[in-house]
Amino acid sequence: NLKGRHKRLIGIIVPSFRMPFFADIIQSMQASAPSDVNLVFLGSTDESLQDAIFSLVERGVEALVFGRHIPNRAEVNTFLKKRNIPYLVLDQNADINAHDMVQTNEFTGGSMAASHLMSLGHRDIALILPNNLTDNMRQRRAGFLDTLSTANLTPKAIITTTLSKHGGLAAVHQLIQSKSTAAFILNDEMAIGVLRGLAYQDIKVPDDISIIGYDDTDYAEFMIPTLTTIAQPVWEIGETALKMIIRRLDHPNLPLQTEFFDVKLVIRESTGPVK
Ligand code: RIB
Repeated sequence: NLKGRHKRLIGIIVPSFRMPFFADIIQSMQASAPSDVNLVFLGSTDESLQDAIFSLVERGVEALVFGRHIPNRAEVNTFLKKRNIPYLVLDQNADINAHDMVQTNEFTGGSMAASHLMSLGHRDIALILPNNLTDNMRQRRAGFLDTLSTANLTPKAIITTTLSKHGGLAAVHQLIQSKSTAAFILNDEMAIGVLRGLAYQDIKVPDDISIIGYDDTDYAEFMIPTLTTIAQPVWEIGETALKMIIRRLDHPNLPLQTEFFDVKLVIRESTGPVK
């Protein structure tokens, strides 16, 4: 009986439903939502974020979860606080004094990617990044560069591209020209494009070049070759974020909280020893 029951409405904003990482986040929240909670999901770019927030507030959301970077934090904070709408930020690092957060150890993740490639003897290592680096990805990059520098290394090439499969594909030309023996690609989605582009050029992974991604979304183990990556606990991130925002609605005065998850290296076929 759907009539007459008050359900809590919680809005979730992510950059896009097509990105495998955020598709998993959405799925985990949907699967773990208690029966007295309704979720409404919106995808938004930086430019459409304000409209997305307005539209969710108009629909009567009691709380919001941001699975994306918030460009105008102060404004968003004032707007939501005025309406007494608590919010949580996951994946990104926003303002620790304004809301609850779910984060992972991005610096360590980047560092693990570098250590893994270096342990296989690679020294000519390329880094493939999205054009617009969000805070969390900056930390990922910092961890990677920091660990390379412990062996007096810098990336053989730094290639920027769009945060998409197409972006990865488009970076392949420069990657081949750089004569790198390995590459760290800042997320799996771009790495999928890189693998496709290398296959078009008949370049063998890992024999000719090793590839490591980031996220461990479920595509990683279905690629040919299967993708070595840094795993974020995507499912737990989504579930925990939802639990925390519900707790916030139940107990508005609890101190703000940040839940922190570790990441781990998942070694598959796409990385191997330098030749
Ligand atoms: O795949 C999407 C990427 O953007 C992930 O690595 C995640 O951490 C996000 O910020």
